[in-house]
Amino acid sequence: MEGAIQNLHIPLISAIIMSILIKNTLLGGKESHIYIEENRISEIGRITEADEVIDGANTIAMPGLVNTHTHAAMTLLRGYGDDMPLHEWLQNRIWPAEAKLDGEMVYWGTRLAIIEMIKSGTTAFNDMYFFMEDVARAVQDSGVRALLGYGFIDLFDEEKRENEIKETEKFVRFVETMNNPRIKAAVAPHAIYTVSREGLEWSAEFAREKGLRLHTHVSETEKEVKDSFEQHGMSPVKYLDSMGFLGSDVIAAHSVWLDDRDIEIYAKRGVWPSHNPASNMKLAVGRAMPYSRMRKHGIKPVLGTDGAASNNNLDMLEEMKTAALLQKLSGDPTALPAHEALKMATEWGTQALGFNAGKIEEGYLADIILIRSDIPEMTPMHNWESSAVYAANGSAVDTVICDGRTLMRNRRIDGEEEAIRRAREMAERFYG
Ligand code: NI
Repeated sequence: MEGAIQNLHIPLISAIIMSILIKNTLLGGKESHIYIEENRISEIGRITEADEVIDGANTIAMPGLVNTHTHAAMTLLRGYGDDMPLHEWLQNRIWPAEAKLDGEMVYWGTRLAIIEMIKSGTTAFNDMYFFMEDVARAVQDSGVRALLGYGFIDLFDEEKRENEIKETEKFVRFVETMNNPRIKAAVAPHAIYTVSREGLEWSAEFAREKGLRLHTHVSETEKEVKDSFEQHGMSPVKYLDSMGFLGSDVIAAHSVWLDDRDIEIYAKRGVWPSHNPASNMKLAVGRAMPYSRMRKHGIKPVLGTDGAASNNNLDMLEEMKTAALLQKLSGDPTALPAHEALKMATEWGTQALGFNAGKIEEGYLADIILIRSDIPEMTPMHNWESSAVYAANGSAVDTVICDGRTLMRNRRIDGEEEAIRRAREMAERFYG
């Protein structure tokens, strides 16, 4: 932990710039100037001067991408156990490795994750993990936006539950004292198979008392659903709803094995399902999230990568394509079109996290990415949305602005080499 604290002096964000002008970028298919004042988009159009001028020629501008479900520090476990059945993977590889984690490892694992996210166009993410104060410091030092929740796991044990309640309250207080508008606390009970009913009820009550969002995993596997019917006589969604857990402040990761009743409940409560297609396919959960049925009920699904141990990268451009292709595997080529994949990854994602970003319009937070349009895979560009979803991957991202600050220009990020070196050192500790 101390190691992480000592590293806070690294100057990641250069001198304060009050205004930024992006000139001649393509916005919604039209050449535009985007003017940013402090941390907001103040004008699209006429202004021609600013403290920092970015030449946007040969780029398309998009809102920063939003990763609505991840465990950022799991970058340290990238490739540590692959091609294994879910339970064997968790029990023999992931859990023993996670038992060795400390705050310093989580800090550098998260810093590495954030650099990877910035390089692939993500400006906000929703995280659930341990040593969350170190995660919050990593977010503070990196300039991105995040919703952060301590992974509450009581394993149906009362003593553990009391401890998790204390940890959650402590982390929420920590975020309050940080007083950083880029960082928000969430309450994050892991799942119904790792958290008792009392733990889930406490989480929902505490979140609502504090006005915080809830983040959990729901119906990822068929086994989870079968077990729920056996133990509670109802589906995981119905079980959560029966205790008043579900609402428009809930981000429900995976939400794969949902039946029509479950979907109706999601629609009624305004739940945000976070679709994690790469993780679902890699861990072979056996089917795709029922996206089209959700849309018919007016639900707005959002998108996430899940942790790097089950993906194995955090590239949201790639994730959009994966999501669209997975839905089309059903036999319907019109399912999840590019336009909606973009909405999942931007506008809807940011609504789910509760930030006023996700659109490049006056008054919105200045979270903007520029994607190169003069690279082979983006040429020719008949339709910018199709190019962004189906042709681009993270390496097409040139510039990233978050909260009115330039975090990456020409693919250069301050502190990248150090974060990679430190993360590599931290990962060595799994073998010690
Ligand atoms: Ni997850």
